Amino acid sequence: MPDPTAVRSMFARISGRYDLLNRTLSLGIDQRWRRRVVERAGAVRGRIVVDACCGTGDLALAFARKGAKVLGVDFTPEMLRRAGPKRRPGRGGLLFAQGDALRLPVSDDAADVCSVAFGIRNVADRRQGLLEMKRVVRAGGSVLVLEFSEPVSPPFRAMYRLYFTKLLPRLGRLVSGDGEAYEYLPRTVLAWPDPDTFQGEMEDVGLVSCGYERLTQGIVCLHWGSVPAGSPS
Ligand SMILES: C[S@@+](CC[C@H](N)C(=O)[O-])C[C@H]1O[C@@H](n2cnc3c(N)ncnc32)[C@H](O)[C@@H]1O
Repeated sequence: MPDPTAVRSMFARISGRYDLLNRTLSLGIDQRWRRRVVERAGAVRGRIVVDACCGTGDLALAFARKGAKVLGVDFTPEMLRRAGPKRRPGRGGLLFAQGDALRLPVSDDAADVCSVAFGIRNVADRRQGLLEMKRVVRAGGSVLVLEFSEPVSPPFRAMYRLYFTKLLPRLGRLVSGDGEAYEYLPRTVLAWPDPDTFQGEMEDVGLVSCGYERLTQGIVCLHWGSVPAGSPS
């Protein structure tokens, strides 16, 4: 189970290079994955979106660009410091706040959508994280989770494992100067449940109409679920 103090200090250390590393290590496709999350949310203009574990704000920004009113929440101030400058005049609906995904600073049923990208894997209590996302979303609203996964096709999976466990930690160490952070990434991704199991976890917290879509050969998986009417917050 991830230790929140260690997680926060790791993200604080790599915050300065986080965006650059995302772009280089994913060969630039990470932003496409985030745009897919926004597409899956449907029409978001004027809608309220809470982006948990927002980090440097890229998913929050992608929602704001489509006209949503977004609150990004993260518990690492150094990551939020990189998110702040992404707010621009005319993008008034984008705010960032320091807070814990396990106790979001948002009242019950306040949001239309609650998203998390590459964040829930780092949260100490995943079930509580999902319950909290559900709590802040009104009935009929959506919970969206983007997370790394493992490719389905065996040859691609073998290549991916090689890249992820051997090459990526070296590249990560080179660019960020932090070897530990880029060993933590493959370790937690390989321990992450398969999409069907994670969908079961979403259903267990009471989300309905759950489904998922594998992106880029299954490197990443986008999960969704809806909050049912009459659901206790
Ligand atoms: C891999 S980054 C993802 C950032 C961003 N969502 C993205 O798409 O790039 C994970 C983020 O989760 C944050 N985080 C981890 N556990 C958290 C928690 N319990 N509450 C709030 N933020 C948390 C970390 O501070 C970090 O910024």
